[in-house]
Amino acid sequence: MGAETKEMQKQRAAKAAAAFIRDEMTIGVGTGSTVFYLIQEIGALTAAGYNLRAVVTSESSGKLAKSLGIPLCLPEETDHIDLTIDGVDEIDGGFCSVKGGGGALMREKIVASKAKEVIWIMDESKLVKRLGGFPLPVEALPFAYSWAAERIGRLGGCPALRKKMDKYFAQIMAIIYLT
Ligand code: A5P
Repeated sequence: MGAETKEMQKQRAAKAAAAFIRDEMTIGVGTGSTVFYLIQEIGALTAAGYNLRAVVTSESSGKLAKSLGIPLCLPEETDHIDLTIDGVDEIDGGFCSVKGGGGALMREKIVASKAKEVIWIMDESKLVKRLGGFPLPVEALPFAYSWAAERIGRLGGCPALRKKMDKYFAQIMAIIYLT
């Protein structure tokens, strides 16, 4: 058998995490290319008769979950999340990680903080000795992003406002990368 590719590792991580899903769970569902495989797993469990609900952390995850028949649930519709599963951008040996590279950091933090348990899934390229190779996403309100950027600069960071298709990445938040 040939070497395992990054995609195969992502898929295997998603499968391993999905083994922790039980019937009747409310699941926090992260965002990204690794979580893509997780959503496939949740879709398969739903098709097999599991009564699951997903609190998604981005529109893209919501769209995919919906297309696979996974019932979605808004934060105001539940008082708990049994398990959250999400990807990471970097992770070190002490389980410290950088997240939010996909732009869903705010929702990801809220959903993870509500969850009884959190599982992070990743391929081996995300493992690092020391965090910092990946720019650190920081969220700030557009109202005052320039002030936030200035303070980050004073802390020694090199902030840049994140844009997508020449527009601010999100209406409610800006993401500033420290490089
Ligand atoms: C989304 O904002 C991120 O936190 C993702 O979970 C993270 O970027 C990992 O994404 P990939 O699985 O696509 O690498």
